Amino acid sequence: MDAISVIRAKRDGGRLTDGQIDWIIDAYTRGEVADEQMSALAMAIFLNGMDRAEIARWTAAMIASGERMDFTASLGTARPTADKHSTGGVGDKITLPLAPLVAACGAVVPQLSGRGLGHTGGTLDKMESIPGWRALLSNQEMLDVLNEAGAVVCAAGDGLAPADKKLYALRDVTGTVESIPLIASSIMSKKIAEGTGALVLDVKVGSGAFMKDIASARELASTMVGLGTDHGVRTVALLTDMSTPLGRTAGNALEVRESLEVLAGGGPADVVELTLALAREMLTAAGLPDADPAKALADGSAMDHWRRMIIAQGGDPDAALPVAREQHVLTASASGVLTRLDAYAVGVSAWRLGAGRARKEDPVQAGAGIELHAKPGEQVTAGQPLLTLHTDTPERFDYALAALDGAIDIAAPGTDFTPAPIVLD
Ligand code: URA
Repeated sequence: MDAISVIRAKRDGGRLTDGQIDWIIDAYTRGEVADEQMSALAMAIFLNGMDRAEIARWTAAMIASGERMDFTASLGTARPTADKHSTGGVGDKITLPLAPLVAACGAVVPQLSGRGLGHTGGTLDKMESIPGWRALLSNQEMLDVLNEAGAVVCAAGDGLAPADKKLYALRDVTGTVESIPLIASSIMSKKIAEGTGALVLDVKVGSGAFMKDIASARELASTMVGLGTDHGVRTVALLTDMSTPLGRTAGNALEVRESLEVLAGGGPADVVELTLALAREMLTAAGLPDADPAKALADGSAMDHWRRMIIAQGGDPDAALPVAREQHVLTASASGVLTRLDAYAVGVSAWRLGAGRARKEDPVQAGAGIELHAKPGEQVTAGQPLLTLHTDTPERFDYALAALDGAIDIAAPGTDFTPAPIVLD
């Protein structure tokens, strides 16, 4: 077998055979197929797609490139495992309250998470703003945290789907991320290899998401649900709105602070609604349909699991969170009803302030980001603060403000406007 014939087959619109897929994923993982050859194949897949059988085989080959974990056996407990994966958005801090909440309701939550890249934030970057907290754990440390707190949020080890690790980094720099076969196989290879019993997918739709329209989000969701189900993982998907940021913050420490409000029984209504909707799906998929996540938020048991999880991962749940050195307030240009606050623009602006990274190895600023003082559907008055921008590097303000040009619409006072529901389907 050789890489050029595999590239040519897909370039010319053909199907890849099982043998071609198995060979190329294995040879690429071992370094026998070069990055430039895999880039060409990724672009051919981006342009010509893969059918369901090809995607299934591609996913299986990426799983087979590394180890498979089995928490149920290792934990020696009858408690079911459940995980959630979001396809990525702006202000998406849901994992932070959700993982300890679902643990408080009786499931075990092995939550392998990622870092932000581009305009979307990453759970690990957010959690790392907690002094002392560690994202990198050995398999034994993960089990210890799960035994102690019922939930762990950490980075995937190098042994899990290494083919995806290499391929994702390559796609990121070759313009081949936004492809349904490649996204579905990338996400599901990691989730299946991680060994969760139940998986809830939060597939984002809108300007701040990879999928901009509901039809492509639905196709991505159904492809991933099919892959999970075929591998014996009880998988469900929600399509959720990402036309405007979730909650009232986008940034690392800012989002941790907002998540703590949710765990304390308060927080923004949209974050609470989505956290509870995903918790119910996870608990039902894990065989615990009678658990009451709203009660676990209200009675402090979710917060208790959060504190245990943070301490078990070396963090101090009582430490002050970092605050950026400089702030800049953007005010409303008119009075009326806020009808649009664009998620993509806010994500790019927060990224430019230092909340995200341009290259994988860049550091992020823990305090950088954006606070939203109004959300679509709310009345605003000319001159009132609309957004507060936070950064340690004030020379970035102009660049960050430029990203917000054209991102905000205010309609005449009294305009009838209902924002999109958070759960679309
Ligand atoms: N997240 C992943 O893990 N993979 C993708 O391809 C896109 C988002």
